[in-house]
Amino acid sequence: MRRILIATSNAGKLRDFAGAALAHGIEIAGIPNFSSLPTVVEDGNTFEENARKKAEQYSRHVPGDMVVADDSGLEIDALNGEPGVHSARYAAPDLHGKQPHEADANTDDEANNARVLRELRNVPPEKRTARFVCVLAVAQDGKTLATFRGGAEGIILDAPRGSDGFGYDPLFYFPQIRKTFAELSAEEKARYSHRGAAFRKFLEWCDRSGKAGSSPSSE
Ligand code: IMP
Repeated sequence: MRRILIATSNAGKLRDFAGAALAHGIEIAGIPNFSSLPTVVEDGNTFEENARKKAEQYSRHVPGDMVVADDSGLEIDALNGEPGVHSARYAAPDLHGKQPHEADANTDDEANNARVLRELRNVPPEKRTARFVCVLAVAQDGKTLATFRGGAEGIILDAPRGSDGFGYDPLFYFPQIRKTFAELSAEEKARYSHRGAAFRKFLEWCDRSGKAGSSPSSE
């Protein structure tokens, strides 16, 4: 089976990628010894900047291999697009007394969701529109070859629903199939999610450009 290296230690993301890849006969693997590599500081102002930075830096540790990194997050319209690139650290003011952009550690999903609910407590349902965004960057030997963006439009509920998924999934209601992202099977998440959409664009690019990892003739 063909194989792509993914630069993430997030088990939820790896599961999503594996679900999206399966349908294309591709195996997803983590970068060997990922947890012992120096962490990449995600200080970019956009998903693109962070995804490129991660893919470029991690690809230097596996010469010749194509490495895919994603940066993703939740943009809530009533909060002017926040938490956005700060999605993984949104509860930093509650837990560490720092603003998300100053924080050097991620905050846990429960605290992040609690802050979203608090910030939106007076916002009516029709104004709770939001989207998940995922940008994938593919890099080789420290250089970005391409980036791909996927999105999913939804509504933020006023209480969590569902027990699968990770991050903000239990708060993100997806009207198209009347479920939150935490109520989706792996196949449904791959089909409807921002990560699945970006990943499909990546696979199309692999096929078009005949890049390693996707061409039927490669390993
Ligand atoms: P980063 O891309 O590592 O900076 O982290 C993105 C953060 O956005 C995650 O820690 C989650 O809080 C949130 N996020 C991104 N994608 C998803 C998703 O598919 N479901 C739920 N939360 C997500």
